[in-house]
Amino acid sequence: MTPGANRNCAGVVSVHKEEAMDWGMKNRMQRIFKDDGKAVMLAVDHGYFLGPVSRLEEPRKTIEPLIPYADSLMLTRGMLRNCIDPKYNIPLVLRVSGGNSILGKDLSNEGITVSFEDAIRLNVAAVALSIYVGTDHEHQTLINLTKLIDEGQKYGIPVLAVTAVGKELEKRDCRYLSLSCRIAAELGAHIIKTYYCEDFEKVIKSCPAPVVIAGGPKLKNELDALKMAYEAVSAGAKGVDMGRNIWQSRWSVAMISAIRSIVHEKASLKKAYNLFNSLKNKSN
Ligand code: R5P
Repeated sequence: MTPGANRNCAGVVSVHKEEAMDWGMKNRMQRIFKDDGKAVMLAVDHGYFLGPVSRLEEPRKTIEPLIPYADSLMLTRGMLRNCIDPKYNIPLVLRVSGGNSILGKDLSNEGITVSFEDAIRLNVAAVALSIYVGTDHEHQTLINLTKLIDEGQKYGIPVLAVTAVGKELEKRDCRYLSLSCRIAAELGAHIIKTYYCEDFEKVIKSCPAPVVIAGGPKLKNELDALKMAYEAVSAGAKGVDMGRNIWQSRWSVAMISAIRSIVHEKASLKKAYNLFNSLKNKSN
């Protein structure tokens, strides 16, 4: 018998813990990344430092119509328990870092805000935290990441690292994001969420873990947001984990549908935009 394997009372051999957990890890990753290896993740965790951000003042109202179109939901445990009906069979990516607000001096001073035990109780598919490379709290947030990864490995739960930039949106360039993504991957993050930037294929090439993009603050119009998603996926992103550019659109269902067509159906930008417009016109 393999070392670590046990025979139960029915005489069936079960593998030791680590192997059993590996199955859980793979299963959870596959719940997030669909059969084509791509993911449309809907990020609605913004309130953890932004409070009642525009169009997410009443979370349930904004989120519920989008659930059928999202492969997974990224959110906090407070939002989950208060605003999401447990009947939904949607994979959950639980934000487990925070401890600051937009009014504070420094958004990078984050700690771990949820125990792994509670994450497991909530039946999560993954946990997520932000890392702040190059800030005063770089070390602290990277150690947060490694602690979560150790816990995640123990229980078979993937960890998503967000390469956060706080208020310094101008940091979103290829050099900085390549550095942050690579460090997150080196430390063992299972999924990396970063921003789209010029030369994005370089970020992807040097990051061995799957990358999804955040959308960032709402762009001028829906076409710009679709273009960003299209270019990111064309450059090798495994999908999106977007928020404001979906649910701050007046036509949020049309928007997430068009994003889905880019991520899962390899739609051209033109085709995705046409889909957006036709759904938008129907909803008017
Ligand atoms: C920000 O830190 C949050 O984690 C969001 O989940 C993330 O920025 C993605 O949302 P958005 O597409 O609105 O940027």
